[in-house]
Amino acid sequence: NTLTSGSASWSSPSNIALVKYWGKKEHQIPENPSISFTLDACKTITEIKFEKREGDQSTFSFEVFLDDMPKPDFHPKIETFFNRIEAYLPFLKEFHFTIHTQNTFPHSSGIASSASGMSALALCLMSIEKQLNPKLSDSDFIQKASFLARLGSGSACRSLEGDLVVWGAHPEIEGSNDLFGVKYPYKVHDNFKNYQDTILLVDKGEKQVSSTIGHNLMHGHPFAKQRFDQAVGNISKIKNILESGDLEAFIALVESEALTLHAMMMTSMPYFILMKPNTLEIINKIWSFRQETGLPISFTLDAGANVHVLYPEKDADQILEFIKSQLVAYCQNGHYICDKIGFGAKQS
Ligand code: PMV
Repeated sequence: NTLTSGSASWSSPSNIALVKYWGKKEHQIPENPSISFTLDACKTITEIKFEKREGDQSTFSFEVFLDDMPKPDFHPKIETFFNRIEAYLPFLKEFHFTIHTQNTFPHSSGIASSASGMSALALCLMSIEKQLNPKLSDSDFIQKASFLARLGSGSACRSLEGDLVVWGAHPEIEGSNDLFGVKYPYKVHDNFKNYQDTILLVDKGEKQVSSTIGHNLMHGHPFAKQRFDQAVGNISKIKNILESGDLEAFIALVESEALTLHAMMMTSMPYFILMKPNTLEIINKIWSFRQETGLPISFTLDAGANVHVLYPEKDADQILEFIKSQLVAYCQNGHYICDKIGFGAKQS
């Protein structure tokens, strides 16, 4: 074909799992289904410029910039990603790519940029695919982009749409499958509209244990089977909760999921702990505040020390006041991010 150069640009958000993905098979196939809130403010904006190459096309050719600065340390991850997806995007070696990327959240915030970053990159590559193959339908586009994003970072396949996304086959969720994320297909109670997520940045350092290593430690883990079964059960439970709007049940399920994720880390061999003392201080403060006020505040965690504080929009004034006066003191340099449920990636 005749396409010789062009560009593509997408912004894609981060997401926070309610029922967690922890443990995978080969080819980024999850051991259990998961469901997440898509975020709004925390996102990656990526632009790819592409140009037809002359001569040797035996290797990939790309350069990558973060905030306009060359980022050679991103190369191995992108190289691995390109190797995994080349079978599905045969044009990859025909072009030279210049990739410019930036995050709306600070780079060293301890917020994983892999979900937003890999989904933005996958979407840009799909936009090139679409320029080569204009007949591609919108639904095939988004499915394939999620499929590719999964091969970059599992949870990235849940970042393309909103406001809730399921990834991993579950008998009670129509369309759910292991290969790509699907928008949650059922009605959601108004209690969860505009649900808020204030992210408390407890530790902005690099994780001591990568999620790749963590997932792999679920192989032969003494509690693996119970955990995977529990996650399947929790997807069934959360389906009822999302429909009924039962906030008490929501809190119990989401907090249990967060602590179970960390319990898996503490009970693997080798074992490790990603929470910090301030993570526990915050959790205890949240529990006391909830007991005193009866307000539906809860927390979740991802694979790190930061705490995601979740609450309904209608209680935002009171809860934000509590967060600012009682919790921000436990954040590194007092840093936190006010986010909420979002609606997925956008072409820019
Ligand atoms: O997408 P990965 O491989 O970085 O794994 C992320 C796993 C958790 O964030 C801990 C849970 C989840 O479901 O997002």
